[in-house]
Amino acid sequence: MKIESLLIHGGIDGDEKTGAVNIPIYQTSTYKQPKFGVNKGYEYSRTGNPTREALEKLVSDLEEGYAGFGFASGMAATTAVLSLFKCGDKIVISNNVYGGTFRVLDKVFNHFGIEYKIVDTSNLEEVKNSMDEAVRAIFIESPTNPLMDITDIEEVSNIAKAKGIYTIVDNTFMTPYLQKPIKLGADIVIHSATKYLGGHSDTVSGVVVVNSEDLAERLHFIQNSTGGVLSPFDSFMLIKGIKTLAIRMDRHNENTKVIAEFLRNRKEIEKVYYPGFEDHPGYEIQNKQAKGYGGIISFVIKKGYDYKKFFNNLEIITFGESLGGVESLACHPASMTHASIPSEIREKVGIVDNLIRLSIGIENIEDLIEDIKNALEESKEND
Ligand SMILES: Cc1ncc(COP(=O)(O)O)c(C=O)c1O
Repeated sequence: MKIESLLIHGGIDGDEKTGAVNIPIYQTSTYKQPKFGVNKGYEYSRTGNPTREALEKLVSDLEEGYAGFGFASGMAATTAVLSLFKCGDKIVISNNVYGGTFRVLDKVFNHFGIEYKIVDTSNLEEVKNSMDEAVRAIFIESPTNPLMDITDIEEVSNIAKAKGIYTIVDNTFMTPYLQKPIKLGADIVIHSATKYLGGHSDTVSGVVVVNSEDLAERLHFIQNSTGGVLSPFDSFMLIKGIKTLAIRMDRHNENTKVIAEFLRNRKEIEKVYYPGFEDHPGYEIQNKQAKGYGGIISFVIKKGYDYKKFFNNLEIITFGESLGGVESLACHPASMTHASIPSEIREKVGIVDNLIRLSIGIENIEDLIEDIKNALEESKEND
């Protein structure tokens, strides 16, 4: 099946018992065991739930992995993956990963003796040079949040394989519709499914897909032991959202391309970060490993223009955290999504105060352009 069909029929396609085209929400914590030592495959919903299982099989099919796991948030998914490591292990991370990923490593896993090293993973020499005996995994985002740096997933996976360590890819920005890290050699894929997979800003959820039986067993043990599972209702919501991923991503791609060109030609703007520009340093790699450029653009507003005024003058685009929904969102990474990263690190990598991130939705493109144009015109300082 091609991905557009798999999105709708992958995993467990409907309810075998009744013929219902949608998997029911099995809103139960426990299951009747017919007699001592006998059950119907389920004992307790933290360990397994049919609605969550349908979602897990679906995301595993989509990412072409061995098994999938549903979590209560993207951060619960990341936390479960990081729980694979032990005291003394080191994880190499891309230099502008999502702020929460940095925070959980810096403020939680650090306490358990798991170290991290920040590397510009778009530079393969730097990745190679960062390898030492303690490094057990390379954790990348491509494109990164929010600066849209592109990392060559296949090449990084080759470096990791040669060292016998894992490649972990946060595929939130691309989704399996546009990019399949496991096919490129990665071992573990993480999603904040809150974003494009769900697609409607109505659930907080996360998924992990792994490429082997060994990792599947270990991840299931961690999922069941630590318990950050996705609820049956939210599993249902995600399955529902995923069905329209292809058409949504096509429209996100289309709208974003037009807006990126528009922003690039505006006098108020100093720099636009978008991997669909031919002069983006990662353009060739993006074309090699993904089927589009996604729905995120970041840009720096020039001195003399006030980014707060820009946000305050948006009418259609919502000022708020998150991304990947059908509605366009604008956010201020330095004070919102990436506030947990110390300002020295933020400034060094380019997450400056006048950086704005847009998640372009699927609204009418002329309405979106008009909204951005008005907000830019109103953003002049002392006006
Ligand atoms: C790339 C990326 N990964 C992970 C997360 C964390 O996901 P959640 O907010 O669902 O916990 C986010 C959230 O913004 C994200 O953008």
